[in-house]
Amino acid sequence: MDENDVGSDLEKVLITEEQIRTRLAEMAAEVDRDYAGKDLLLVGVLKGAVMVMADFSRALRTNAEMDWMAVSSYGSGTKSSGVVRILKDLDKDITDRDVLVVEDIIDSGLTLSWLKANLSSRGPASVQVLTLLRKPDAAKVDVDVRYVGFDIPNEFVVGYGLDFAEKYRALPFVGTLAPHVYSS
Ligand code: XMP
Ligand code: MG
Repeated sequence: MDENDVGSDLEKVLITEEQIRTRLAEMAAEVDRDYAGKDLLLVGVLKGAVMVMADFSRALRTNAEMDWMAVSSYGSGTKSSGVVRILKDLDKDITDRDVLVVEDIIDSGLTLSWLKANLSSRGPASVQVLTLLRKPDAAKVDVDVRYVGFDIPNEFVVGYGLDFAEKYRALPFVGTLAPHVYSS
């Protein structure tokens, strides 16, 4: 799927496939260095992080394990409330493990801040966060994000795992949608 398949729904491409690939390779090299000799566990947050996880994990030289969580923020509309419910928990115990949370996007940072606290309470050796995208509001919440792919403007974005009403996740790039998509 690419921009030709979504017709006039797309407003513009913010980050190309090539830019994503290059940046994930840089981040993987950093993570390889930082976790040398450690037993790394990647925790992906469903569903948005599936593309980041697939490409980032394959760019790593480290032979990391993978696990997944699904969470939902209570509250209406497109704003996160900070009250989070676990829809799917990890399969495995993370006691004494070096955990790296893999995220698609950090917006208000409320979801992540809750998730980090939740994982930290399970007795891991460490919990760090990697995200492909970060929006400016994330700065308002004091949550340490070790690896950030791209800082982006405060616009709603889709593609590369990110959806609008469950659509556009399979686009290979990150972009914004034309206004008519939201009004129809
Ligand atoms: P907070 O605000 O708690 O929430 O950091 C992060 C979650 O909100 C969703 N989100 C987006 N999803 N395009 C999307 O498709 C966006 O621009 C966007 N901004 C936030 C996403 O689920 C993320 O994990
Ligand atoms: Mg997400």
